[in-house]
Amino acid sequence: MENQQNKEHSNDQLFSVINKLIMIIVVLVIGIISIPIFIYYNNQPDKVSKNNSPSPSSTASTNSTEPLYWTAPDIESITDLKLKATVSYGKALIAHTSKYLGPNGSVLKMSNGLNCQNCHLEAGTKVWGNNYGSVASLYPKFRARSGAIENIYKRVNDCFQRSLNGIALDTNGKEMQAIKAYITFIGSNVEKGKKAEGSGFKDLAFLDRAANPENGKKVYIAKCQSCHQDNGQGVFNSDKSEYTYPALWGEHSFNDGAGLYRISNFAKYVKYNMPQGTNYQNPMLSDEEAWDVAAFVVSRNRPHINVPKDWPDISKKPIDHPFGPYADSFTATQHKFGPFNPIAAAQKKSKK
Ligand code: HEC
Ligand code: HEC
Repeated sequence: MENQQNKEHSNDQLFSVINKLIMIIVVLVIGIISIPIFIYYNNQPDKVSKNNSPSPSSTASTNSTEPLYWTAPDIESITDLKLKATVSYGKALIAHTSKYLGPNGSVLKMSNGLNCQNCHLEAGTKVWGNNYGSVASLYPKFRARSGAIENIYKRVNDCFQRSLNGIALDTNGKEMQAIKAYITFIGSNVEKGKKAEGSGFKDLAFLDRAANPENGKKVYIAKCQSCHQDNGQGVFNSDKSEYTYPALWGEHSFNDGAGLYRISNFAKYVKYNMPQGTNYQNPMLSDEEAWDVAAFVVSRNRPHINVPKDWPDISKKPIDHPFGPYADSFTATQHKFGPFNPIAAAQKKSKK
């Protein structure tokens, strides 16, 4: 009898423990399910657009028709272990290029210490952070700069030779193969021939005046210098493997053949990505500040690259290509700093 009661008592205890466990599991499951849903809804562009600054360029593109932006697939989803290892190495090379290939690189010493990721933010996955979303889908493609069809290898080496002021990587080598595998993998969810939403740079309206390096210097001192330093040289980390704050000019910076040397690219990059932590939803610079600080930085000294074969058809030069000869009669200074509206209007007219 007593035995029976004891048994019932311990059964009761067991039930209550099981009940508690079930409760905990239910709460956990609900929690785990709701976190991604919460994050997803918080990332909906039109929800966040309310925080946008009222600058004309951002209001134009943040109405309710704003698209869902591209996001990179997760490397963890790769089941082929060999491919996964290659793609992961590619990502490491993009994020920490300097560790492997910089001035103190463990694999090769062939570039200036910048990481690809310094300009292609979040390993080339950030919305309007110069991401690689459209590379797999659009390459090989014709590029007017070279006047030829370029594949991914050629495009990557362009950045090695210009943005990283270095030399070309061996196309068959392990590093280039890994970089290509990574870029191809993250763009694999974009339909061939299509552009991913939010890839490259977000547009920025031209100013009605020339960009002003003097104003830009003031912006630089107030909003950039704390990280990139008064001499623009940035700060290398303590073990000298990569930059904590990358160089913006001088001998360790990108050269004058690099994409970022064009003022419009620089202004767009900075407007939607700098100071560090900025994104397209919370730009911290006005359009004028972005153009002016770009004018200041592209006026500083930096390495020169000799590329006489660039732009074989001069009529295809972008408006802000800072080197002549030009197909129009605007000066090199106006092509470098603006005002760009008159050049754009003349180009439109001559196309008609
Ligand atoms: C100093 C900044 C900077 C660095 C560092 C840099 N890039 Fe770039 N990269 C650019 C800019 C700017 C463009 C776009 C140029 C243009 O369209 O005129 C670009 C374009 C590209 C593109 C083509 C993107 C497209 O959608 O067409 C690829 C691929 C690329 N870079 C790869 C790399 C790799 C790999 C590295 C590292 C080895 C690297 N970049 C380092 C600035 C940089
Ligand atoms: C709080 C520190 C900080 C401030 C302030 C800051 N940056 Fe940066 N900047 C960074 C870091 C860090 C990177 C590299 C980003 C990465 O690798 O994810 C970077 C990268 C860059 C790059 C591309 C890489 C290169 O070296 O060319 C440019 C251009 C740039 N910043 C310009 C600016 C400008 C202009 C300002 C002022 C409007 C500014 N930054 C303010 C930290 C900062």
